[in-house]
Amino acid sequence: MNIAPHAAKRRELTMKITDAFLGEHGVLYPQLDELERAALHAAGDLREQAVLLAAGLVSHAELEEQLLFGHMENLIGADGGPLAVMRIEHQEVESLLAELQESGPGEDACDLAARLVALARDHFAKEEQILFPMAEEMMGEQRLLELGREWAGRRLPRRAA
Ligand SMILES: [Fe+2]
Repeated sequence: MNIAPHAAKRRELTMKITDAFLGEHGVLYPQLDELERAALHAAGDLREQAVLLAAGLVSHAELEEQLLFGHMENLIGADGGPLAVMRIEHQEVESLLAELQESGPGEDACDLAARLVALARDHFAKEEQILFPMAEEMMGEQRLLELGREWAGRRLPRRAA
């Protein structure tokens, strides 16, 4: 398929960083559903699923910390509060993912997967219901759009200019 040169140019992205992260959650939820299904039915290799899930989830958490949490902490401080909780939960999710990738087959892996899915869903819900609205309130639309462009530079596939 031929793509006209003008169609290949990158358009200026106008999306708030919070919307970008909501979109990433939208991709990660079905992966969590799939891991939960496999754990419930003891089907497939949970370690392989954990490797694939980690590929998206770990980079998602890193981007949140670098492009959102850090800027919020500059405004409200890093000690205590919701941002500290979110960072701790990122560490907990990542360590469960690492444990699952190294687990043997059987009930331990299923239990780890179930804990991981529950924690990740709960964490996403807190971000969606509390943290992202707080960011929108305190940072203002222009700053959120600037960070959305930074996100695009880090996340979107490279295309011809
Ligand atoms: Fe997060």
